[in-house]
Amino acid sequence: MSAATDAIKSEPTIFFLFGGTGDLTSRKLVPALYNLYIDGRMPTHFQIVAMGRTQYSNDAFRDVLLKDIKQFSRKRVGQAPPETWDQFAKHIFFQVSDINNPQTYQEQSERIAEFGKICSGEPNVVYYLAVAPRFFSTIAENISKFKLAANPEKARIVIEKPFGHNLESARQLNQLLGGVFSEQQIYRIDHYLGKETVQNILALRFSNSIFEPLWNRNYIDHIQISVSEQLGVGSRGGYYDESGALRDMIQNHILQLLCLVAMEPPTSFQADEVRNKKVDVLHSMRKFTAEDVKKNAVRGQYSKGWMEGQELPGYREEPGVAPDSNTETFAAIKFHIDNWRWHGVPFYLRTGKRMHQSSSVIMIQFKDVPHLIFPSEAIEGWQQNRLIISIQPEMSVRLQIQAKRPGLDMTLNPVDMIFDYNGTYTGDTPEAYETLLLDTMLGDQTLFMRGDQVEAAWDLVMPILNAWGGKKSISFPNYPVDSWGPETAESLIAKDGFHWFTLPLKNSRK
Ligand code: BG6
Repeated sequence: MSAATDAIKSEPTIFFLFGGTGDLTSRKLVPALYNLYIDGRMPTHFQIVAMGRTQYSNDAFRDVLLKDIKQFSRKRVGQAPPETWDQFAKHIFFQVSDINNPQTYQEQSERIAEFGKICSGEPNVVYYLAVAPRFFSTIAENISKFKLAANPEKARIVIEKPFGHNLESARQLNQLLGGVFSEQQIYRIDHYLGKETVQNILALRFSNSIFEPLWNRNYIDHIQISVSEQLGVGSRGGYYDESGALRDMIQNHILQLLCLVAMEPPTSFQADEVRNKKVDVLHSMRKFTAEDVKKNAVRGQYSKGWMEGQELPGYREEPGVAPDSNTETFAAIKFHIDNWRWHGVPFYLRTGKRMHQSSSVIMIQFKDVPHLIFPSEAIEGWQQNRLIISIQPEMSVRLQIQAKRPGLDMTLNPVDMIFDYNGTYTGDTPEAYETLLLDTMLGDQTLFMRGDQVEAAWDLVMPILNAWGGKKSISFPNYPVDSWGPETAESLIAKDGFHWFTLPLKNSRK
């Protein structure tokens, strides 16, 4: 994101999409590249080579993609001039391949050489691993063996989450990749970091002078980060049952949000400056003992129930899920950050599937006024000031203040000063993957996770994973579809005198 201005075009790039026939390629990656193309952000010379075992010709594969583009692209094909897709599609190729077969890598090497001739120079080469983690090592080893990543300035590897299953496997994966690529070549994706509203957290904090003096334990009471989803696990039961909410959402997306909220100001917008400050936050977070897990972490699993007139299965009835599964579909955790800025300020994190609302919100609650001068009848709707950063579906920043309600009496109630993206800006907002793929081409790692960051995040959640994995929950399932999670999640925050914040949303259902 940092380097991307209209004036900057990326250098010639060849993408190899491992997992070329998978969902991610057709729903996210190719639509994102197509949108970049429509916006004039693709380099003059580029190739997208989808890799897979299916016997597609280039044309047959392009037709398959076109159908998906029509369904998933932000800028639908109909809105772009008709010839745009045809022009874009000429850059797409399908390579019938098997990751275990040396010929696959030989062919890649030839393609790179051929492409280099077309663009008269050494192109950027991006290996995008949109495949299950068990294939990472084979691919990385072959890339090394065939010397396909020899130039650290040009070759890059993009790794999708999950990056490891626990601290140990994340370390092993880092070591494996480190044997083939230097850190500057490794792009670990956390798609939350590409979201427009998430990038705006940095802008809000570090391009406005009014927040920083208040952004600390002297003025902030507590912080909540809540990512709730109405969706269940759908067809991903097999993956999810091995994962759970803590691995799937908290270890990565939600801790990344927390880092952006809690980090110290970086000295510049350079990738490692930003990433250093983020990893400092993770290192400052208080590690849980087994006793802390009992006190400060709550897990839940949904049971069947009704949502919008439809009866939905409980988690244990979902396809691919064990009938006696101990996997959590909800987690709520209270963390502390032990540093000068945040000492004593609790951070409450919550996420869950099949919840009442789909919304991702960060709520920063400020301390109460030191002395109340108004009579009790004036302050019935009293609310401490709040800064509410709504990531999705509403994209907004709200500053909640007290105001005098118009009338002859002095009556106070909370009102919102709102910055709403839709009201302020016109035009589409780029999808997270557009930003992240553009940054990959530009060689900007600011929005990607560094190896030490991923390990620090795993390190933090390990005591909770161990406690939950080692002890079967006797209360599962413990929250119905279309609720706000288990009652114990309410108690977690209520015992400190707070409530979970929810943003009243119009049309929040998705
Ligand atoms: C993914 C998780 O990383 O993020 C999914 O694996 C989750 O389980 C998804 O649904 C949420 O992403 P978004 O962008 O829809 O909030």
